[in-house]
Amino acid sequence: NQGKLWGGRFAGGPSPELEALSRSTHFDWRLGLYDIAGSHAHAKALAAAGLLDEAEEAELHRGLDVLAQRFADGTLRPDPNDEDVHGALERLLIEEVGPDVGGKIRAGRSRNDQIATLFRSYLLDHCRTVSRLVLDLVDALAGQAEAHLGERPAIMPGRTHLQHAQPVLLSHHLLAHAWALLRDVDRFADWRARVEADSPYGSGALAGQSLGLDPELVARELGFTGSSANSIDGTASRDFVAEFAFVAAQTGVDVSRIAEEVILWATKEFGFVRLHDSWSTGSSIMPQKKNPDISELARGKAGRLVGNLTGLLTTLKALPLAYNRDLQEDKEPVFDSVDTLEVLLPAFAGQIATLVFDTERMAELAPQGYSLATDIAEWLVRQGVPFRVAHELAGACVRRCEERGIELHELSDEEFAEVSPHLTPAVRDVLTSEGSVASRDGRGGTAPERVREQLAELREQVDGA
Ligand code: ARG
Repeated sequence: NQGKLWGGRFAGGPSPELEALSRSTHFDWRLGLYDIAGSHAHAKALAAAGLLDEAEEAELHRGLDVLAQRFADGTLRPDPNDEDVHGALERLLIEEVGPDVGGKIRAGRSRNDQIATLFRSYLLDHCRTVSRLVLDLVDALAGQAEAHLGERPAIMPGRTHLQHAQPVLLSHHLLAHAWALLRDVDRFADWRARVEADSPYGSGALAGQSLGLDPELVARELGFTGSSANSIDGTASRDFVAEFAFVAAQTGVDVSRIAEEVILWATKEFGFVRLHDSWSTGSSIMPQKKNPDISELARGKAGRLVGNLTGLLTTLKALPLAYNRDLQEDKEPVFDSVDTLEVLLPAFAGQIATLVFDTERMAELAPQGYSLATDIAEWLVRQGVPFRVAHELAGACVRRCEERGIELHELSDEEFAEVSPHLTPAVRDVLTSEGSVASRDGRGGTAPERVREQLAELREQVDGA
């Protein structure tokens, strides 16, 4: 059991089959620098408790610095015999500083409180990166929204049930996606506040430690604002992993909803957008093809992010306290969620920023499919007609149009009057997309002035995020 962390009570070494199953260095090696930072902090706590003299502490810091340097330049590698990143780095530290000093680093800590802390540190860092990338996508959406809010704001068919519903500003629609993403950034910030205050180092295996170490000192050294109040909870809880995976999955789902629209909008039938050459792909056989692969991959990867969350919760369900080896299965899914978002979001933001909208076509389609019927009903309400009646009358106008294969604005004054004497020619004021959107001028509505305010409000929140 040479080099193992737990050889003492075993007569023989582990079977190769057990080692193969148990080994985690192929995925937890990415926590190496966090493990080294943890050891630096732990050495300080040991020294503060009088368990290391000044020279020993200095030697440990020196050895750890050498490991960090070699880790960064890629020359530090785990052995096939190393079970996990913690064991490997302890072995390598002992190789560097010798067994007398190196053998002191493990006092008062367990891989259980180590991993619970390092994993938090890793996710705190990547929470920052991912949040910034989501904000870049929000920026891309806001940029497109602003570009289409000029003198004549672009109008598109707003849909419910994927059917024409009411005309809306393209900018209004794009910002709807931006707000959803901004809430994801907010969720990451909520998560961060909870996790930052909860460093489990000092929890030991489950019961705490008896060596007079100060967990608050370690927490501060590692950039946490506080340490775990309960050592069992500190080592056994993984809700912080599941919650991170949830926010990652929700972000992926929000991106997938934009993706699906881009895919539809880029079809011949919709014809709303053209994809930029650098942000779309071709076909190996069909020379004419231009495919929305970024959006399709976004849609696909959302499934993967949801799967990672589902897998994690399934692993955690009914797991008794405290640490169980099952918990080693918590890392790969959430590492994958981090990697997925870090590769997806920059590509997706680039695709959005370079979309070219066919605003003529969108404007042409916006009033079609009787999407101004609600405007007729609400105009009647403003003339004092009860809404129940107004709804019926506007519906009767639609029925006439359908019979004749025309749109609402093509009904003659006489036909309107036949439906109801209330429908005077003045109703034509609201029978344009421009009139329709301008009339929806309450807070949150699609009137150009409101959408400009909305964009400013969003940008203010982005700046504060
Ligand atoms: N590698 C383990 C994990 O990822 C941490 C070590 C705890 N192992 C143990 N046998 N107590 O969860």
